[in-house]
Amino acid sequence: MSRIIFIVVFCTVLAVQAEFPDDPKPCKYGDSGCIVKMINYLIREKAMQGDHEFNLVKLDPLPVAKMNIKQGAESPVNIDLTFKDNQLLGISKMKFRKIKGFGKDIAGGHEILFNAGKLSLVGPYNIKGKVLILPISGTGKSNMTLVNCDVVLSFTGKPFEKNGETYMEASNLKIITKPERMYYYFTNLFNGDKALGDNMNAFLNDNWEAIFQEVKQSMESAFADIFQTIITGVFSKYPYAKFFEE
Ligand SMILES: *[C@@H]1O[C@H](CO)[C@@H](O)[C@H](O)[C@H]1NC(C)=O
Repeated sequence: MSRIIFIVVFCTVLAVQAEFPDDPKPCKYGDSGCIVKMINYLIREKAMQGDHEFNLVKLDPLPVAKMNIKQGAESPVNIDLTFKDNQLLGISKMKFRKIKGFGKDIAGGHEILFNAGKLSLVGPYNIKGKVLILPISGTGKSNMTLVNCDVVLSFTGKPFEKNGETYMEASNLKIITKPERMYYYFTNLFNGDKALGDNMNAFLNDNWEAIFQEVKQSMESAFADIFQTIITGVFSKYPYAKFFEE
């Protein structure tokens, strides 16, 4: 009996459509300057705690339950690298610069350009394979950091109907990253052999760029999944038109 009541109450709450918050104010469709300001405000003010009004989860640190970077034998970086229960740090410091799209037409391309001063993926890892002919193996904690990274995020807007209103879902999201530098740090490589581990960490950092080129795609697609969820979350909160003014 109590279960039935719960379900009824839950549905009622969902049916009451949320009002768009007073702050920040909606922007004109496609207005890059205004929309960029709005995103920067949301990221700066809301990223640390998350924000119910915009369906934003806590973004900094952002929990990353699992991320896998796997390169085939044909790659000079032939590794199987898994991160589990990691944290992504630095989203609240991202600087958004420009948007394209976000016009009246939901379906079609949307793009967000931003810079991440420092983005670190920190937590337990497991690695096995070969990096530029050197064998690598280990299980421990790692810190993978992108510095001064320009990012182009693009996705296709997919309109969908809910309670007679049109919402946007982000689909086919892609990310292209261009970091100035990347740092790797793995503890406990080679079963804790310190000399081998130190050498490997130095080697990885000396060759960061060649390695980055190889792992770039897997990493970008892992980040793309994360951002697709965040953006879809925000735009599922209110009908698309509520985010804008005429
Ligand atoms: C991760 O590494 C970067 C670059 O070396 C460093 O600035 C940052 O403080 C490290 N983060 C953690 C949590 O250890």
